[in-house]
Amino acid sequence: MSMRKPLLAFAVALALLTGASFAQSPGSQSPNLGKPVSEADIKAWDISVLPDGTNLPPGSGTPAQGARIYAEKCVACHAEGGKGGGAPGAGPLVGGAPLTNGIETAKTIANYYAYATTVFDYIRRAMPYNAPRSLSDNEVYALTAYILALNKLIGENDVMDAKTLPQVKMPNRDNFILPYPDRI
Ligand code: HEC
Repeated sequence: MSMRKPLLAFAVALALLTGASFAQSPGSQSPNLGKPVSEADIKAWDISVLPDGTNLPPGSGTPAQGARIYAEKCVACHAEGGKGGGAPGAGPLVGGAPLTNGIETAKTIANYYAYATTVFDYIRRAMPYNAPRSLSDNEVYALTAYILALNKLIGENDVMDAKTLPQVKMPNRDNFILPYPDRI
């Protein structure tokens, strides 16, 4: 018999023992580090927006409102009209060559993102680059509306909110392929 089986049995027994002792008296036998996280703390961090709009917050914004915020907080890096290139790495927020041009083609919001809700999620968690999470939800809706309008994916006067944003169909939406559709 190889050494594998006894080793495995030993590992399982050890895992069971350790698990059991933690379960019995967490206070006395755990390292006693940290403190329980409150629901409110978890909620503040739990900002992921799903493709279908689940977890989008209340609030709303229009392209015109977004244009004003963009001029104040984004233009320095992403340049006038979202052309990009104002700062290293700050790519264009508008346009993009068709991805059929090849794998090296730069991915943009218009030619790559599958869901409009991702624009909201990304801006809220990561932008402005120098002050992430400093924007209000209304500001994020407005900036998302501004960028979608620049890309002609919504109208100039369309209001973006938790209901309308998930309904915006992104051009590349149907080009994502599920390799194992039967495993969903
Ligand atoms: C200090 C420079 C800077 C500022 C200011 C800034 N950005 Fe960015 N932005 C970047 C960089 C750099 C990236 C690329 C980050 C990466 O790839 O990790 C980026 C990426 C993005 C993307 C993702 C683009 C894509 O193709 O996936 C969006 C959307 C975006 N920024 C929106 C904004 C908005 C809206 C504002 C204003 C609230 C803003 N940014 C302000 C530097 C900046």
